[in-house]
Order: sequence, then C-alpha cells, then structure tokens
Amino acid sequence: MYEFTILTAYPWIKALHVIAVISWMAGMLYLPRLFVYHCEAEVGSKQSETFKVMERRLLKLIINPAMIVTWLAGLYLVWSGDWYRYGWFHAKLTLVLILSGVHGFFTRWVKDFAADRNTRSQKFYRIINEVPTVLMIFIVILVVVKPF
Ligand code: HEM
Repeated sequence: MYEFTILTAYPWIKALHVIAVISWMAGMLYLPRLFVYHCEAEVGSKQSETFKVMERRLLKLIINPAMIVTWLAGLYLVWSGDWYRYGWFHAKLTLVLILSGVHGFFTRWVKDFAADRNTRSQKFYRIINEVPTVLMIFIVILVVVKPF
C-alpha cells in the first residue's frame, strides 16, 4: 500500500484518474443523446450538418483524450497499489473493457452519421443511451466499496 502524504504520486494520479473519468463519462452519456436528436434531422439539412460537427468534436476533443488519460492513470494505480490481486478489480476491469467496446461502437456510429448512412432507429439510440450509465454505476460501486 502507499503512504498518504502530499508528496506521494498515488493520490495525485488518482485525482487525475477521477477527473479523466468524469470527462469520459460526460461524453459517453451525451453522445448517444446527440444520436437520438440526429435521427430526427433530415439528411442534408443544416441541422444534420450541425450535429455532425458536434458529434465529431465531442468524440475527438473530449471522449478520446479522456479515455486515454483514464486508462493510463488507472493502469498506474493498479500497478502501484497491487490491485490486480483483488476480485473487485477483475470485475471492474471487465466492465471497463465493455465500456471501452461501447466507445468503439460510438466511434463507428459517428462515422456512419458523418457519411449519411445511419440506419439505426431513434429507439435503438435511446436504449443504448442507458448502457454507459449502468456500467458506470457498477464500476464506481466496485472500486469504492470493494465488495470482494
Ligand atoms: C480504464 C481502466 C481503469 C482502470 C485500470 C482503473 C483502475 C483504478 C484503480 C486501480 C483505482 C484505485 C483504487 C484505490 O486506490 O482504492 C481506481 C480508482 C477509481 N476509479 Fe478507476 N479504473 C479505470 C476506469 C475507471 C472508470 C471507467 C471509472 C468510472 C466510470 C472509474 C472510477 C474510479 C473511481 C471513482 C476511483 C476512485 C475510488 C476511490 O478513491 O475510492 N475508473 N481506478
């Protein structure tokens, strides 16, 4: 375990991890909302083109960098705190890998909308919208409560 003083890297990296997590999650919760609204905009309309810009910027400027920082800081914490020995961490890692997979699908869908070839319904995006929320709830419980 780590010593808890202002000079130790661990709590600072953990703060960075949580800041990055908040940014990643903000984007992961908002992007599918944009997909829901984008479904209502007619292909080629001004509104549709605006959604394309919003989606691309959210992905490239917020979601992607925040995911990278979350992963790098998280892996440092695992290594530094020897957390890979614990069951809660294995469960958290599994859910985080699923979340990263969802991120991959979001990237594909941003590209589909950008090329005007989205075929999925508004209802589909409404349902998908809940997936990052549910994953986030279980991830936070696992890492904070450490139930096993
Ligand atoms: C990307 C891969 C990730 C890895 C490898 C990872 C790993 C870790 C580790 C080892 C800790 C330190 C635990 C401790 O000191 O008690 C931690 C803290 C934390 N992680 Fe992650 N994490 C990742 C992603 C996430 C995600 C996606 C979320 C939320 C959705 C999250 C939320 C948190 C929170 C809230 C803490 C602070 C817990 C505390 O101080 O009690 N992490 N993470």
